Amino acid sequence: MPLPDQTAAQLESIRQQCARGEPCWGDVESHIPVERYFSPELWRAEVRGLFRPLPLIAAHSSELAAGHVLAHDAYGVPLLIARDGDGAVRAFLNVCRHRGMRLVAPGPAARELGSVVCPYHGWTYKLSGELRHMPHADAFDRCEPGGRDLVALPCEERHGLVWVVPEPGGTLELDGWLGGLDGELPFYEIDRLQLFRTIEAEYPANWKLIIDAFLEPYHIRVLHRDTIYPFFCDGITAALRFGPHTASLVARRAAQEWAAQADAPPPGTLAELRKLASPTHFIFPNTVTIFHPDYLSLITLYPTGPETLRWTHRMLIPRDKCTPDWLPHWEKTLQLIDRGVFEKEDIHCAVQTQRGLASGANRHLTAGRMEQGLAWFHENVMRYASSSA
Ligand code: FES
Ligand SMILES: [Fe+2]
Repeated sequence: MPLPDQTAAQLESIRQQCARGEPCWGDVESHIPVERYFSPELWRAEVRGLFRPLPLIAAHSSELAAGHVLAHDAYGVPLLIARDGDGAVRAFLNVCRHRGMRLVAPGPAARELGSVVCPYHGWTYKLSGELRHMPHADAFDRCEPGGRDLVALPCEERHGLVWVVPEPGGTLELDGWLGGLDGELPFYEIDRLQLFRTIEAEYPANWKLIIDAFLEPYHIRVLHRDTIYPFFCDGITAALRFGPHTASLVARRAAQEWAAQADAPPPGTLAELRKLASPTHFIFPNTVTIFHPDYLSLITLYPTGPETLRWTHRMLIPRDKCTPDWLPHWEKTLQLIDRGVFEKEDIHCAVQTQRGLASGANRHLTAGRMEQGLAWFHENVMRYASSSA
């Protein structure tokens, strides 16, 4: 598959920046009031305006084989995601229609179930959500057809990802929501990957501090000096907006050599592109994809409170490298990236930043021209949060 148009345009920008030795940054400095990182009112408005009505990525397709169900609690709403025997994926509230018991307990992986049986009194549901059995059914009045089926949530599987709107009665319209990004994503072949491991953790920081870190390359040279900076160019990046979403390419050192050869062909495959630049997508409001040279980090965040976040990092690897001989490589890689780069560096900075935000040292945080992605992000957060007021 050839490079999609906008990815090709971004790579051309990187080629020109490398060739001229002049990075291309945004036009203006921007300022973010510090209250946005600890205000309880804004947190409530974000949950209402971003984390309930918008499509959120709840799983990778490889997590759910046919006939499996997955309990998902990371978004503050008990979700049950099910793939029936025909391969269709649906999402429901993980709540029994009798007296509200949680149906399936969260676990590290999806479970193969012929049907979902409530552990309290045994109401039994098909994976389509239809109530199919009630012990002592004659103890209950009749109700309208479907009136005791599981509460379905808008759900769609696309690009290897399961998208859910965690609000009953909500709408999911991915064509319009993804806009131009919808045409770029197939090239990245997320659907051809396999989940290797999911790391979940809670941290004492506002969720936006983590997104901020993934939207700018400014910190790579200093914060990641001893880990990933040796692979990257300093400050050479190309970012494009697709509605509220952002796609970026961050130039790797190999890009300089490539750009210096006037007749060097452009990369023809994703693997070739990843040697020159690391693609990163920010899918509004809470998902970041980072394409490392041979695997993908899929990161989703949720604000559990104004100053606390839930971190979910799925490491996705090529299907043909899921064999036992590859396991030590992936284990080592996971330790290096999740524990080393993310936890000890990016998340550490977010947690340390949170501690001083309310100290009065700053009334706003300053984002320079190399950090324009933060201004785009915060503009959209405020737009959607205020629409919920
Ligand atoms: S609460 Fe589920 S069967 Fe009673
Ligand atoms: Fe970072």
